[in-house]
Amino acid sequence: MKVLIVGGGGREHALAWAAARSERVTKVYVAPGNGGTATMGGKVENVGLAATDIEGLVGFARSESPDLTVIGPEQPLEKGIVDAFNSAGLAVFGPTRKAAQLETSKVFAKDFMRRHAIPTASYEVFREYGPAKDFLEFTAVYPQVIKASGLAAGKGVIVAENREDALQAIDDLFNRRVFGDAADEVVIEAFLTGQEASIFAVTDGSSYRFFLPSQDHKRIGEGDTGKNTGGMGAYAPAPLVSGDVLKKIEERVVIPTLEGMRAEGMPYTGFLYIGLMIDDSGEPSVVEYNARLGDPEAQVVLPLLESDLIVLLEASLQGRLEGVPFEMKDGAATTVVLASGGYPGSYEKGRTIVVGEELKADDDIVVFHAGTTFDGTTLRTSGGRVLAVTATAATLRESIDRAYQAAGYISFDGMYYRRDIGAKAFS
Ligand code: AMP
Ligand code: GLY
Repeated sequence: MKVLIVGGGGREHALAWAAARSERVTKVYVAPGNGGTATMGGKVENVGLAATDIEGLVGFARSESPDLTVIGPEQPLEKGIVDAFNSAGLAVFGPTRKAAQLETSKVFAKDFMRRHAIPTASYEVFREYGPAKDFLEFTAVYPQVIKASGLAAGKGVIVAENREDALQAIDDLFNRRVFGDAADEVVIEAFLTGQEASIFAVTDGSSYRFFLPSQDHKRIGEGDTGKNTGGMGAYAPAPLVSGDVLKKIEERVVIPTLEGMRAEGMPYTGFLYIGLMIDDSGEPSVVEYNARLGDPEAQVVLPLLESDLIVLLEASLQGRLEGVPFEMKDGAATTVVLASGGYPGSYEKGRTIVVGEELKADDDIVVFHAGTTFDGTTLRTSGGRVLAVTATAATLRESIDRAYQAAGYISFDGMYYRRDIGAKAFS
């Protein structure tokens, strides 16, 4: 069968890698892909269409007839790519535009959780500066978390430590419109304490199966300091999410979410990402939903999947996920993101990437590309997050060591990475 992966980041390289491992799959198209998917060879081929070019992608799928299309990022979901493929009678894995509101509208997600008594931080919604300012001046409790409701490339959340920062944040959102329309509505919510974890499910709307729980590292600096980024590294399985904690997440979050979406006439199918805060007593609260896999968490959970991803996704689309094997490998995986110097601020592109010969020899090391281009001879940087170096091993400690060892064989001008990915699992 032929598969089309939509997107061009590290997550989509990992999806293409997993798809290419399927014996059932003869061809993997990636639109637009990146330098990594361009150089995989074998079954994998890039297609020069942007992930948000819905018309172009429907046209491509009509002519090349992939048996399955998998949507990686959130922007095409928000634009209704799944609805467009469904209308054209093309098999596609992902939530409809309405169902994707769990990610694309934080107001929708918060109100949905309130309606269905799903644990999450208490919150208020604001549509104008004045009332938001009154609220922030009145409240004595800080930090407060201020969120643009719409998609803002992971940057629309401000954790305001004090009143001054909070007022600055709502000025930026409402008056200076730094996130444009994404901040027409703003959620202000209580600050949650604990540790974050990411849980991903594959779901057909009723049945669901979990990938291994993972932990992202969102801040640029070691010890979780400095600015938020798209994610600087991840590992799985996260020991924080014990069997007990997962059971609570299942009963209090996953089941009511899927039931709620069905009851509201927008059954949720696709990958469901639940970003959680787990407090000191192991009680989970939802920080956010995403309508896709996480990046860079996909780069650790997919290599730990023993079963055939494509068989699973097909079964899910056909509503028969229940009976299909969903086996994980033993052991652990760690991914270290190699970023361009300056990221998440401004950075340079076009730097030549040198990958040492030593690296290529190993099966348990995969270098997923995010911001790279390949012009036929040279691999160059083209984004803030450039590569995600993933190692799988028998233990987490070993996977961390091996990922860093592999990262040491790679270089480009200005290359930056955190040295403490996975360390929180031992703290
Ligand atoms: P979001 O895009 O909603 O996941 O928020 C981005 C990041 O901001 C999260 O991964 C958390 O690190 C942080 N964050 C969001 N909401 C809260 C909250 N209510 N309490 C504490 N931290 C939060
Ligand atoms: N790793 C966080 C995200 O994908 O949103």
